[in-house]
Amino acid sequence: MAFTIAIDGPAAAGKGTIGRALSRHFGFAHLDTGLLYRATGRRTLDGLAPVEAAQTLRAEDLDADDLRTPEVSQAASRVAAIPEVRQALLDFQRAFARRAGGAVLDGRDIGTVICPEAEVKLFVTASDTERARRRHKEMCESGHAVTLEEVRDDLRQRDARDSARAAAPLKPAEDALMLDTSEMSIEEAVAAAVAAVDAARG
Ligand code: DC
Repeated sequence: MAFTIAIDGPAAAGKGTIGRALSRHFGFAHLDTGLLYRATGRRTLDGLAPVEAAQTLRAEDLDADDLRTPEVSQAASRVAAIPEVRQALLDFQRAFARRAGGAVLDGRDIGTVICPEAEVKLFVTASDTERARRRHKEMCESGHAVTLEEVRDDLRQRDARDSARAAAPLKPAEDALMLDTSEMSIEEAVAAAVAAVDAARG
């Protein structure tokens, strides 16, 4: 049986952490859709045209070890504004969302475009300061030498571009549950998300 949890929100709000935790808790498959755009953006830095990069994306492109750098983040946000790029990645995401056994997808347009019929829609946010602090910590821990200022600039630019674009802009679905994690621990945020899913499952 299909059961889809759609998680949207701005960069570094905690979507991935919550998505992974929900997938473990409920035994659902998880797709970080940002990776598709990151891998596409990564290929454009190698000289490929964006639409071709998306249309010929391979599973191994998602394993590149530099997909989290600010340079690739920016490239991802740029290619994500191109309607043909989004179109090329649509069918895979839709099929994943409705696979048997349940799925959690996190991104920007999951509840609005990819899977408007999702059984649960969460829109995860956190303050700009908190998101920058968390992403900076995460990047330092994984060995990326970036300053807090660089992280803040990256998030600000991407959020502005991701929200202002005409194609599937970042915005909450009308029936999304808003989850502001600024003042929450990971455990609290996950517990709130689990409760929302439990309520929908009845
Ligand atoms: O979630 P993320 O930060 O890894 O995403 C990287 C970029 O990809 C983000 O700035 C916007 C784009 N993106 C998108 O447009 N739609 C999605 N469903 C997921 C990501």
